[in-house]
Amino acid sequence: MATINFGGVLEEVVTREEFPMEKAREVLKNETIAIIGYGVQGPGQALNLKDNGFNVIIGQRKNSKTWDKAVADGWVPGETLFEIEEAAQKGTIIQYLLSDAGQITLWPTLKPFLTKGKALYFSHGFGITYKEQTNIIPPADVDVILVAPKGSGTSLRRLFLAGQGLNSSFAIFQDATGKARDRVIALGIGVGSGYLFETDFKKEVFSDLTGERGSLMGAIQGIFAAQYQTLRNNGHSPSEAFNETVEELTQSLMPLVAENGMDWMYANCSTTAQRGALDWWKKFKEATQPVFDELYASVAAGKEAERSISSNSQADYRDKLNKELEELRNSEMWQAGAAVRKLRPGK
Ligand SMILES: NC(=O)c1ccc[n+]([C@@H]2O[C@H](COP(=O)([O-])OP(=O)(O)OC[C@H]3O[C@@H](n4cnc5c(N)ncnc54)[C@H](OP(=O)(O)O)[C@@H]3O)[C@@H](O)[C@H]2O)c1
Repeated sequence: MATINFGGVLEEVVTREEFPMEKAREVLKNETIAIIGYGVQGPGQALNLKDNGFNVIIGQRKNSKTWDKAVADGWVPGETLFEIEEAAQKGTIIQYLLSDAGQITLWPTLKPFLTKGKALYFSHGFGITYKEQTNIIPPADVDVILVAPKGSGTSLRRLFLAGQGLNSSFAIFQDATGKARDRVIALGIGVGSGYLFETDFKKEVFSDLTGERGSLMGAIQGIFAAQYQTLRNNGHSPSEAFNETVEELTQSLMPLVAENGMDWMYANCSTTAQRGALDWWKKFKEATQPVFDELYASVAAGKEAERSISSNSQADYRDKLNKELEELRNSEMWQAGAAVRKLRPGK
């Protein structure tokens, strides 16, 4: 572990320097890693592990487009690609990467394959934390571990191919074998993480549900929509409103924040812009703080999990989500966005 100062708070983290890939390979040399589910995280983690030299097989239900995707990615039926039950039987480490709703449905099928000494791996603390609602209660004689990449499986793969990595959290819920810590860190390095920071299952799920409902996805859309509407209500054109709300942010400003922080982005804008941003950010913080506190309380009370489980267990949940996404896509702001994107040079 390396001790790093995060804004005045010291934290222990794992980097590829203290735990190099060769060490990860040594720890997992006798393991068969069965990736169950080939949705978004499945391919990213499986392909990175395979390319890093680990022994990986896939478990995916047949008669599904996802099976065909796995074949197209080079997994060979009967050799490295199996039905879920067969892969779970062969695997010594079971990476449970079905959708969170799928994990609940399939749990009674998977559980018998979790025999003594195996490891059950998650990329989200959801199933274990909300066990009253999911009924996911692993046997006592298996390790239960987590590596949660902080981003999409697609980005995990893209960054790996570019020689970079997404940061991941890791956690140990149950150490039955005494090997859980080495196993989880080795897997975290193997899937292509940048650095690894330790958490527990509950903190992982509370922060993740808050983040995606909050600044990563929900809040950002809300703030975009509010500012766009204010500009449109005051007679600004869609092109002007979209450029001032979204395009400038994604094309110009966020890459600067990613590179060197908020102050550096501010410093690269006009002094007029800096004066205004420094005056107004606290007002936005005050206005949204109660909403974030309400959101966290809802997550902690299990209400967000309940909503997710009840909506995802409906047979037509995908259609309903697609309909809502379509409404978003068809809103004036995002239609204006499509037009702006088409006008980007080089398109
Ligand atoms: N999305 C991300 O990038 C991301 C990021 C960090 C952590 N995570 C976590 O990683 C885990 C996997 O998430 P994901 O987004 O990769 O999931 P996903 O894309 O929604 O997973 C779909 C996979 O689950 C299978 N599946 C769903 N329901 C099933 C059922 N009832 N029986 C059998 N198979 C079923 C699908 O097979 P079919 O195609 O045949 O239906 C497919 O293989 C979750 O715990 C999630 O919270 C995800």
